[in-house]
Amino acid sequence: MKRLVFKYREMIMSDIKAIMDIETDVYPTPWTRMSFINELRHNKYASYFVMLYDDEIIAYGGIWNIVDEAHITNIAVKKSWQGKGFGSKMLSFLEDQAEIKGAKAITLEVRESNVTAKNLYENNGYDSWGVRPKYYTDNNEDAVVMWKILDKESKLDE
Ligand SMILES: CC(C)(COP(=O)(O)OP(=O)(O)OC[C@H]1O[C@@H](n2cnc3c(N)ncnc32)[C@H](O)[C@@H]1OP(=O)(O)O)[C@@H](O)C(=O)NCCC(=O)NCCS
Repeated sequence: MKRLVFKYREMIMSDIKAIMDIETDVYPTPWTRMSFINELRHNKYASYFVMLYDDEIIAYGGIWNIVDEAHITNIAVKKSWQGKGFGSKMLSFLEDQAEIKGAKAITLEVRESNVTAKNLYENNGYDSWGVRPKYYTDNNEDAVVMWKILDKESKLDE
């Protein structure tokens, strides 16, 4: 029986076509191709990664690292691969990358109505710290702001 082999690597320009197929499929208001290009080319604080099964991109995500804090800008799993634990794996990988770059805490915004994503974050140790009212301009939806303290030392003690 063939063993499933998954790996991570940094996102590159030639990934953007496959990323856009996923992005437009999973988000009501997807990022544009130009947003990804700008992030990869011009944002020195940004790091983007993909998770591959063989050569297929099945998940991706990005972070901004600013001093000792990281901000998750995007995380998504291809629809046919959702609900199988890959969102949690991608999230954990992003946290590890954030820590490698010096982050001691990580934050994100999530739509109030995005129950799946809120469950993903809550089950992985994120706490709600407040709400940014009408953060999403497409439908004036509130964003829930979530934070997690990243602490390698305490993880080693577990
Ligand atoms: C959010 C997303 C990344 C989760 O990825 P996933 O691979 O489906 O998630 P996982 O299988 O790792 O599940 C993680 C947790 O999410 C929750 N979850 C998963 N599918 C769910 C569903 N259909 N309904 C409710 N909660 C769900 C569960 O709590 C699960 O934890 P558990 O297995 O310990 O119960 C994925 O659904 C996605 O790409 N959504 C569209 C993009 C998006 O909204 N990104 C987040 C922006 S803030």
